[in-house]
Amino acid sequence: MIALDPEDRLICLRAGEAADNHHGAVLPPISQASLYRKRTMKDLLDGLSREHSANVYSRGTNPTVKVLEETLAKLEGVQACKCFGSGMGAVSAVLFGFLKAGDHVLFVNDIYGPTLELAARLEDFGVSWSHSFARDVDAISAEMRNETRLVYMESPGSMLFRLLPVAAICVMAKARGALTVIDNTVSTPLLQKPLALGADLTIHSCSKYIGGHSDVIGGAVMGSQELIERLFYKSYMLLGSVLAPFDAFLLLRGLMTLPDRMLRHHQDALAVANFLQGHPRISDIYHPAFCKEDAALFEKQMLGASGLFSVALKDVSYEETLAIADRLRLFGRAVSWGGAESLVICGHKADPAGRTTRLPATLLRFSVGLEGAESLIADLEQALS
Ligand SMILES: Cc1ncc(COP(=O)(O)O)c(C=O)c1O
Repeated sequence: MIALDPEDRLICLRAGEAADNHHGAVLPPISQASLYRKRTMKDLLDGLSREHSANVYSRGTNPTVKVLEETLAKLEGVQACKCFGSGMGAVSAVLFGFLKAGDHVLFVNDIYGPTLELAARLEDFGVSWSHSFARDVDAISAEMRNETRLVYMESPGSMLFRLLPVAAICVMAKARGALTVIDNTVSTPLLQKPLALGADLTIHSCSKYIGGHSDVIGGAVMGSQELIERLFYKSYMLLGSVLAPFDAFLLLRGLMTLPDRMLRHHQDALAVANFLQGHPRISDIYHPAFCKEDAALFEKQMLGASGLFSVALKDVSYEETLAIADRLRLFGRAVSWGGAESLVICGHKADPAGRTTRLPATLLRFSVGLEGAESLIADLEQALS
């Protein structure tokens, strides 16, 4: 059983109380307004001069979204947060906001596919990028260029969930004058606090565990007041990926149960992975707690491992892998993850035979939901038999 920070539990539960003065409501009202009138023209001009904090226009700041931002910043242990209409909105704002023509960005570890697709689009604007799978900080340092301005990490990485030595990479990148960014979606602010490890910014897709009920798309970027203000004016306001007030309300509601959900996801995923580890049809398990080389980092950086992990099936083809996934009854076949329902997805859109790829052809990624480990194990048992 893992232990979360008791203070984090209180922050999640009291998320809405910050917006008090609303008849004691436990969640803030949904401020469904696109603009906010001011008493005098001077007040309006004053608001416009600090739009990151004043309610002027909801493409900038909105009171319901603000409550969510303040709550997320508190949870992650940082000064400031800006919320977005999606995780990709957050990723875009960081890449467009902190890079310019001539700069280079180094991606480290397995990275969410569309993030790399966006990096490729940035080439059209004169920004170069490269991708490192090294884990040793000296090897990563050797891949830095004079013009590297951003080091972008995922730890755990997408699909294979390998960890990076985040603190050492941050020290190295800072010494070379680069900002460090980590996509912390898998861990949520409860299981890993990258800014305490030295990162400058974290990115979250709130569409996963933070929402937790598969009914909202959102994103967040967190960091120092100075960096988030820069992001606000240089890209957030201009790219326009805005979180709606109702979606902020749903995310605040999701936060109230996040600690209990994360404990359950972690615990049940471990039980399911343990069952699969001994199964004759499984060749490998990709789970942060099962990777011997990452044991020390897991211990040092993370409080738990979420409900995500992957497996490689033994002695089957790509087609047979799909057929096994089809036989599952409790695991839905769907993209995304982080909700109450368990999900499964294969690692490839088509048979990768003949292609060199880091992901095994027979990879299945599971998102363990809240059905209970016993039922999920029984389902896997019948699908694999
Ligand atoms: C690690 C990670 N980052 C970012 C995103 C993008 O988030 P969204 O779908 O909310 O745009 C995803 C979505 O799957 C993800 O898995």
